[in-house]
Amino acid sequence: MPVITFIEFDGTEHQVDGESGMTVMETAMKHNIPGIDADCGGSAVCGTCHCFVEAAGDLPAVEPQEESMLGLRPDRESNSRLSCQLQISDQMNDMTIRLPEFQM
Ligand code: FES
Repeated sequence: MPVITFIEFDGTEHQVDGESGMTVMETAMKHNIPGIDADCGGSAVCGTCHCFVEAAGDLPAVEPQEESMLGLRPDRESNSRLSCQLQISDQMNDMTIRLPEFQM
């Protein structure tokens, strides 16, 4: 089971166990991590679960819908992802998720 470290914009860290089958977004919501809104509930149509993945092993590829939402983010970086599209599995490495200053 991978450990997920969320780092808020102000540097506050939260370390939680990732559960296989849940997404990174769902994990953040379950543990009341501030900084992810997830307005659409994980359908990849709102972009308010944006995050920066700093340390992880192989991740699923960015699908076209995720790509189009990420393209709307002015703060997009090369490691930007929608956390609702990152499904956790037991084979994943621990990962660090940095949260943006704001969601939009
Ligand atoms: S929760 Fe809406 S795009 Fe991820």
